[in-house]
Amino acid sequence: MTELLTAGIVGTGMYVPAKVLTNADLEKMVDTNDEWIVSRVGIKERRIAAPEETTSSLGANAARAALADAGVSASEVDLIITATITPDMPWPSTACHIQRALGATRAACFDIEAACTGFVYALSLARNYIATGMYRTVLVVAAETLSRITDREDRNTAILFGDAAGAAVLQPVKAPTGILATYMGADGSKGELLELPGGGSRNPTSHATVDSRLHYMKMKGNEVFKFAARAMASSNSKVLTKAEMTIDQVDLLIPHQANMRIIEAAARLSNLSMDKVYLNLMRYGNTSAATTAVALAEARIEGRIKSGSVCLLVAFGGGFTWGSCLLRL
Ligand code: UT7
Repeated sequence: MTELLTAGIVGTGMYVPAKVLTNADLEKMVDTNDEWIVSRVGIKERRIAAPEETTSSLGANAARAALADAGVSASEVDLIITATITPDMPWPSTACHIQRALGATRAACFDIEAACTGFVYALSLARNYIATGMYRTVLVVAAETLSRITDREDRNTAILFGDAAGAAVLQPVKAPTGILATYMGADGSKGELLELPGGGSRNPTSHATVDSRLHYMKMKGNEVFKFAARAMASSNSKVLTKAEMTIDQVDLLIPHQANMRIIEAAARLSNLSMDKVYLNLMRYGNTSAATTAVALAEARIEGRIKSGSVCLLVAFGGGFTWGSCLLRL
């Protein structure tokens, strides 16, 4: 058997829409207030896509930034994997829409759906395509327009979600840089705690599904909350064991940005101090698969990640799904 190659991230990019939705704006829409949102969740504002923007247009903008950062042209991309729960349409895939926007004509394209864990899952897939030598340049895009499936009449979810996209270019790299280990988990028995019930084969779109608001996401927030911190801490422990490393060797934790209290609990359970945790939840809210991708790109822009830094990405979300990706940049 030929030796496996080491895959690494050689470029990152992000894009957020211009329109800002503040907690004060939400106070005029549902029965909530800034103090509750900041103290219980940690979000101050989120971005909302303009009517002409789509998940693929956000994703293509992030992808262009990542390609420029990597110094790689669109024509060099062999594969585009898009992680999203808010595709442009059921099909063709959002990855195909992004391919067209970029002119990445050589690339194979597909989407994956692992909710908020999508970017971490997609990195794991991309790594394997590169490791086996099947593809050399893989573009991973995590893009979401959650504003399109958020029920602005439901205060449990209306305050949480926003729109954003992040992207990463992966290629073979020389050790010790590169992806060191990945871990993916799931528990389908908890699916109904966080779901979009309408529009699929179970509840095909009809006047009744629209009238029942089944095309908006439904969440039993407290149940998700209880599960999330433990799932992320356990995922981190598993990925560190796989890499034969300890939490002390991690320079920066990049967690899914859903709730400050969940992040603090996950960091505590992972024995990591909060000064080693990257946060941008207050600016963008929960953007599902995009949170970890945007946070990785933004942490690099801000200089929080230096050459040789060890980063630990961790996420959890609908499915339930969870996972971690340990890498040295
Ligand atoms: O991306 C992965 C998926 N999602 C998540 O990670 C979200 C996970 N869950 C959470 O972040 C939290 O559960 C929420 C932020 C959604 C809710 O916080 P909580 O501390 O779990 O609150 P709760 O649902 O237990 O509700 C506590 C109280 C309730 O009032 P009563 O019954 O105690 O009088 C709610 O009605 O807070 C009330 N409440 C609100 N009040 C003001 C719920 N939402 C709001 C709101 N504004 N937006």
